[in-house]
This record gives sequence, C-alpha cells and structure tokens, in this order.
Amino acid sequence: VQKSDSYPHTSVLLKETLSLLDLKPGKIVVDCTLGLGGHSVEMLHSIGPTGYLYAFDRDERNIAVAQERLAKVGENVEIFHDSFASLKDRLKRKGVSQVDALLFDLGLSSPHLDRADRGFSFLKEGPLDMRFDASNGKTAADLLNGLKEEELADIFYYYGEERRSRRLAKAILERRKVKRFETTLDLMTVVEDTLGSGRKHGKGSKKHPAAQIFQALRIAVNEELEALELVLHQAVELLAPHGRAVVISYHSLEDRLVKQFFKRYSTDLRDPNDPYGRRVQRPKSLSLLTKKPIRPSAQEVAENSRSRSALLRAVEKL
Ligand SMILES: C[S@@+](CC[C@H](N)C(=O)[O-])C[C@H]1O[C@@H](n2cnc3c(N)ncnc32)[C@H](O)[C@@H]1O
Repeated sequence: VQKSDSYPHTSVLLKETLSLLDLKPGKIVVDCTLGLGGHSVEMLHSIGPTGYLYAFDRDERNIAVAQERLAKVGENVEIFHDSFASLKDRLKRKGVSQVDALLFDLGLSSPHLDRADRGFSFLKEGPLDMRFDASNGKTAADLLNGLKEEELADIFYYYGEERRSRRLAKAILERRKVKRFETTLDLMTVVEDTLGSGRKHGKGSKKHPAAQIFQALRIAVNEELEALELVLHQAVELLAPHGRAVVISYHSLEDRLVKQFFKRYSTDLRDPNDPYGRRVQRPKSLSLLTKKPIRPSAQEVAENSRSRSALLRAVEKL
C-alpha cells in the first residue's frame, strides 16, 4: 500500500479491501463512495494505466480533494457527482455493462463530522443540514420542522433504534410550535431534556443518546438504506463473472441489509409451488468471501477511532 500524500486521512480496512478486491492491471473498477479518494488511489495503482476507475460521491467538496489526489496517479478515471443509486444508469450511458470490482465504504467521511457547517456532529454547533449533497434535497431541519409526529418517531425508532422515540417526537412537536429548529444545538437541547445525556445511568459513561438520534436523522435525510438496497441489485447485475464487491458498513442496520442481501443471492431460490422443493426459480449468483464480517484490528482502531464500528463483507460473482 502506497503512502498517498500529506493529507491527514486514513481509509478504513484498506489492506483488507484491496486484498479482497484482488485487482489486476487492465480491470474496470468502481468506487461507489469516493470520499477523499483513499481507497480509489490504491485501486488506481493496482489497475495501472490500462484499467479504468469510475467513482461516485454525492459530496462535491470531497470529490474536489479526491480528484487532485487521483490526478497524481493516472488519468484513466471518471468521477460522477451523483448517488451510487444511479450506478447502472451512469455506466450504461458510458457503454459499460460489466465491471470487475465494486467498492462501497458507506456513510459519512471525516470532513462531514469535522466541519460544523455540515451539521452532522452533535458535538459542534452548526446548521441542521446533514445532506451529503449540500446542493440538493431536504435538510435535517426541514424534516424536524415539517414531518408529522409519527413520521419522526418512526425515524428515531427504526434508524436510531431509540425505544423512547415517541416521547422525543412529541417533544420536538412541542418545541417547534414555539421556535423552529435551525441548529444542532436546538436539537441537542430537546434530546437532552427528553432523553438525558446518557451519563446518569449505571457506571461509566454511556453513549450520548444524541449519537443515535443524529445518526437516525442523517440516514433519513440521505435516504441511505433505500439507496443501498437499490444499488446492491445493480451490483449483482453489473459484476462480471469472478468480479468482486466489497461493502464496509458502520452500523447494524446497514450491515444487516448487506448480510441478508448477500445471503439471498448466494443460495438457490427454490420454487415455493414445487411440492419436492427441487425446482430452482433463480439460481445463486454470488459466493460469499466472508462468512463473518471482517473488523479492523486493535491497532487500526487505536490509530483511527472512526474505524471502530466498521464491518466488511465481500462477495464474488459466480
Ligand atoms: C466513508 S466515506 C468514503 C471514504 C473513502 N473510501 C476514502 O478512502 O476516502 C463515504 C463517502 O460516501 C459518500 N456517499 C454516501 N452515500 C452516498 C451515495 N448514496 N452515493 C454516493 N456517495 C455517497 C459520502 O459523501 C462520503 O464521501
């Protein structure tokens, strides 16, 4: 693995990803979550000047940084400022119907959390935005100020796994009658007043409930699980025989979706109307390269605490 440049940025599970993608010169590969380009730079090195790298990101600022880094390695790159949900469509328009490798390193990037003006971090005061694509779509404030009580409760319950979701949704409705939500601090105040700060119960310091609530809103704002479900279907179609896909998730909702999807496509689907259960309706099209998800080593977590929740799963097309 090359040391890319002076940019203080660490890509998660980099060695493991490259080893599982098994790239060779001349391969056509896609990085669906370019970010700051850490994985992409190494992918581009591996495929050499005869290969081609396509990349997607919804964040223009990240693309600008990544573009600069990639330009030092090669010109055989095309970047789309778009959601990876458009993967198949974008490639089709380029005349590409098969690829050798796909990478998904999901969720947000370090600059999203570090920059207060993006509104992702409950530790920094900023506008309640949380959009990966800051040029498009509804912000977290729009959702908090506009959704119905039950809709907000569902977001906190399903995406934040918060059992007290109804209580929080009610408090949000009360608060917005008085003052609309604008900043991360506005939301923090309601979360702490309603759910506490997570430190009073039991021993040691418990996770702050705002972590789950901010995560839930972010997933809703960016429609993250919908995009993932859509693209996994496209990934299976696009992979060439023996092509590989690697997915790195950062929370159990994402990982569960990926796990179940890979399981479904790595087993034959039997016809439920066949009394002997032998007739295959859809033969399996993937083989699992990771029976259990790969996690970062203790050393990686010590060096980069943001890697701690990473779960990597990989498949090969049959
Ligand atoms: C964890 S970071 C990727 C880091 C990257 N692997 C690296 O080494 O620098 C995830 C990136 O995916 C982007 N992203 C999230 N959802 C996306 C989607 N549906 N389509 C395209 N990009 C997305 C985010 O904007 C963010 O830049």
